[in-house]
Order: sequence, then structure tokens, then C-alpha cells
Amino acid sequence: MKLKQSINKTIQQAFEKANISEIPMSVSEATKPEFGDYQFNGAMALSKKLGKNPREIASNIIENLDLTGVLSKAEIAGPGFINLWLNSEWIASQCEVAEQDERLNVQSKENPVKVVVDYSGPNMAKQMHVGHLRSTIIGDTLANLLTFLGDEVIRQNHIGDWGTQFGMLIAYLEEMDEDGSVSLKDLEQFYKNAKGRFDADETFADKAREYVVKIQSGDTHCLELWQKFIDISLGHCEEVYDKLGVKLTRKDVRAESFYNDALAHVVSDLQTKGILQESNGAQCVFLEGDDVPVIVQKGDGGYLYATTDLAALRYRAKELGAKRISYVVDARQSGHFKQVFRVAKEAGFVPEDVKLEHIAFGTMMDKGGKPFKTRDGGTVKLIDLLDEAVEKAKDTIKDKEGYSEEEIKALAKIIGIGAVKYADLAINRESNYIFNWDKMLSFEGNTSLYMQYAYARIQSIFRRFDGEIKGNIIIGDTLEHRLAVMLLRFEDVLDRAAEDASPNQITTYLYELATLFMRFYEQNPILKEGVDEAMKMSRLQLADLTAKTIKQGLDILGIQVVDRL
Ligand code: ARG
Repeated sequence: MKLKQSINKTIQQAFEKANISEIPMSVSEATKPEFGDYQFNGAMALSKKLGKNPREIASNIIENLDLTGVLSKAEIAGPGFINLWLNSEWIASQCEVAEQDERLNVQSKENPVKVVVDYSGPNMAKQMHVGHLRSTIIGDTLANLLTFLGDEVIRQNHIGDWGTQFGMLIAYLEEMDEDGSVSLKDLEQFYKNAKGRFDADETFADKAREYVVKIQSGDTHCLELWQKFIDISLGHCEEVYDKLGVKLTRKDVRAESFYNDALAHVVSDLQTKGILQESNGAQCVFLEGDDVPVIVQKGDGGYLYATTDLAALRYRAKELGAKRISYVVDARQSGHFKQVFRVAKEAGFVPEDVKLEHIAFGTMMDKGGKPFKTRDGGTVKLIDLLDEAVEKAKDTIKDKEGYSEEEIKALAKIIGIGAVKYADLAINRESNYIFNWDKMLSFEGNTSLYMQYAYARIQSIFRRFDGEIKGNIIIGDTLEHRLAVMLLRFEDVLDRAAEDASPNQITTYLYELATLFMRFYEQNPILKEGVDEAMKMSRLQLADLTAKTIKQGLDILGIQVVDRL
């Protein structure tokens, strides 16, 4: 249920009754409980336009405000704020609807759009690194979220599978003449070895260069080697996806090489449009106000990262028909995306009405604030990092009683992976992020473990209750009121998170919800002797709706819940 919209509608009606022809601003959540549930501060903005005192305008609005439906009380505050209280009966009935509804009363979009989410994008020549981890986690969440809200999401994994380094790598793969999956287990090492050969041996280096030309000209043998290399390399990435539980599959792969045939057309089309210029032998687009041109073809005829992205933009807009294209990529590439987006629009590769966005994220740092590396300065292998997360999670729960070893193992996976994901999603994505095991695996604070614990705690209530839940939701006290309002905010939160592509709005919300529930539960026992039957039924429903909301929220973040913890 779009809560704000319902409140705004009530205010709109008051405007009409009061003969104020302006469009009212939207309400916002009250910052303190004593300010009510929501606040309206449009009266101040209006005072200039109408030449009236804001308090006068506010009281005029209040006089015309319907306080028998969505709202029950309104008060002027300060220079002309209006504090608004939601009607407890109305929120109770809305919670009942949500409790009965599979989608928790979150509407599916009436006008869904086709959205491309470009995420993960590992490079096949190198080990997948932590930057790809962030992209994979944030991208998958965004894709889940938009899907849940009803958009048609097309996941695209723009893997780096083309470039001169592949000549060296496949020459080395051929030389190894063994099952590539063994020597390629450690891609970083494989790369180092190949590079070592390349630097030390002229004949090998010549062969590597020859192979570059050969793959580019479609030589069957070289292409086969290349394909084998890509398959194994991609297989490693898929192990990571699998551990993470992200939904990327082979069919989502639209590799850089997929656009090879389109690259020459990109350049010639830019030429025809008259926006191409030669500079030092290279083909460039100079954008107004930009010092650095976008190079689309080098002097030697080679194409670049930007050329491929232009081809991909066109494919996504024209072939896939996307109306929104979101790139979940490291913030350090923001210059690149700004430029290719502009070129794509100027060249007409992407229609004006298509929304192009770079969902940038910051760098992952270690506790000392340095970019995340292994002790000897190498890239941290993601698979190792995830295994470590599961091991550490096991440590956290190993003393729990009543679990078999198998169960602990399964639980550790859910908790460990959940912790890595949640910690990443819970920060403002654009900030750099300090990776901290202790913090992410804590039962306290805004962590996945805290959320999973809150969920399990509610499930334990239901294990102790056997009976049928019936009757209405009754809002008895302020905490109950606040919990119900919080539950009803869910859709607004998801909408905002989708709009801004910021998963941390969801985590912040879930944390507030779980904390509020814990307080509510301490103050308002449910199954305790002496609790009035109708109250018990009502609170059970609120508890259940809280659990379902947590579960749904975590599901969007790609995190599982457990019934017991
Ligand atoms: N392979 C790139 C990298 O590792 C990421 C690809 C992002 N997507 C894109 N369409 N450029 O930096």
C-alpha cells in the first residue's frame, strides 16, 4: 500500500475544499513520535505565493481536512508545520489486508517498464575481484527489487572476454596441453605464468601476438582454445554466483565479444552523424565541455571499451527495447559512463526517453582503510572470501544447542553469505566500504544476523502457539500504532529504493522495523497468561506480518531467513 499517496490524497482534498489551487507538496515521515506519524510543511512554501501567514494557511487546511478516514488528528506546529496522526482503525484494516495478501499489499506496477540491469561483468583474463563482488551483490538486489515491483528485468552480464591479452593466455593454455580446468583453477597464477612466458620467450611472444590476430580473424583452432578458456573462466565465476545465491546464469551473459560485429557500424554511424573527428590518427568524439574525447577507434584500427559500450547501449535500447538501463559498476568508471551515455544519446543510439544510469559504488577497504588486498598485495579471491565467511559464521553459532552438524553447516552458509551481502548493501553504496568481519557477523546492530534473529524469534512465538489465528487487528497503544504504521510503509520504502537504486534504504527500514518490533514485544507480551484473547490474536497477526515483511525484504536482498537461531 502506498501510504504516502493515501495521506497526500487526503491533503489534496483539503486543498480543494479550501479553494487553494496549488498542488500540495508531499508529506514526509515525522522525525519524532511527538510530531505525529507524518508531517506536512507545504504551508510555508505556499505562504509566499499566497501572501498569507503560513500558520493561517495551515489552520485553513486543517479545518478542511477529513479526519475520519486515513487521518485522525492534525495539529499546527512551529512556523506552520502540520503534524498528522494516522487513524488507528484505518491502519489496522490496512494491516489486515497486507496480512492476508501474498504480496503484503505491495502493488505490482501498473505501467511496468523493461529494465536492463548490467552487473557483475567480471573479466575472463583475471580473477574476479572484490569490485565485482559489490557489483554482483548490488546488481542482483536491484534486479530482484524491480522484478518484485513488476518491471520486466533483463539481467546482462557484460563479461570482459576480448582483448589482446587473450592471445597470450590461449597460447599458454595450448602449451600446457592438459586439462585446462586444473591449470586454470587459479586464474591469477595462470595469468602470471603466461605473462612470465611472454616476457621471457620471444617465440612464445610471437605466437601470442599471432594468436591475437588469428582469433580476431576467426581462426577455428584459436577460437576453440579461446572458447575453452572462457568456459573454464566463466565456470569459476559461476561458482561464486552459486555460493552467493545470485541469479545470474549463462543466458544472461552478453559478453564484450558479442558486440564485435557491431563495432565497425558504431564508428561509421558516428561518422555519418557527423560527430566523429580524427585526432592523432584515432577516431574520437569530442563532447562539448569535456576536455577528454571519447576514443572509439585507435590509430591501428583497434576498438575500445567505450566502443563496445556504445554498441551495447544501442543493442539494449533498440533490440531489447529497454526503457531504463542501469549499470552497476565501480564509481571509478563514472567518467566513462557519463561520456558514453552522452554519445549514445547524441548519436541517436538510445532514444531520448530512455533512462540511462550509472549505479556507482565505492571501493571496498580493509580495516586500515586501504583497498582490500591479500597480505602480499594480490587480489583477494572471492571464493576464498566467501568460504571464510561461512567458516566464521560457523564459529559464531557452533555452541548453539540442539543442532546436528549438518544443520550447523547449512545454517553457517545462510548466515555467512547473508552477512557478506547485508554488510555491503547496508551502507550508502557510493561510500567506500570498510570490510569488517566482526561487525558483519554480530548479532547486534544493523546486520543480517540481527534480522535473521528477529525473524527466528517471531517464528518461535508461533511454535509455542497452536491454534487458529482469527479476529481483527486492534491498535491498543502507541507502540502498536507505530509498529503498524511502520509495516504499512514497506511499499513506499521499496518504491524509493528502486527509484534511487539504493538498497540501503531497505536495510535501514528493516532494521527500524525489527528494532521496533523487539520493543513492542517486550512491552506487549503475546502468549503470556492473562493477555486478553482478542489482543493476543491481534498481536499474533502483527507479529506475523512483521516476520513476513522481514522475510520479503531480505529475499529482495538475496538473503535467506531461518526458522530457528
Ligand atoms: N568488465 C568491466 C570491469 O571489470 C565491468 C563491465 C561493466 N559493464 C559495462 N557495460 N561496461 O571493469
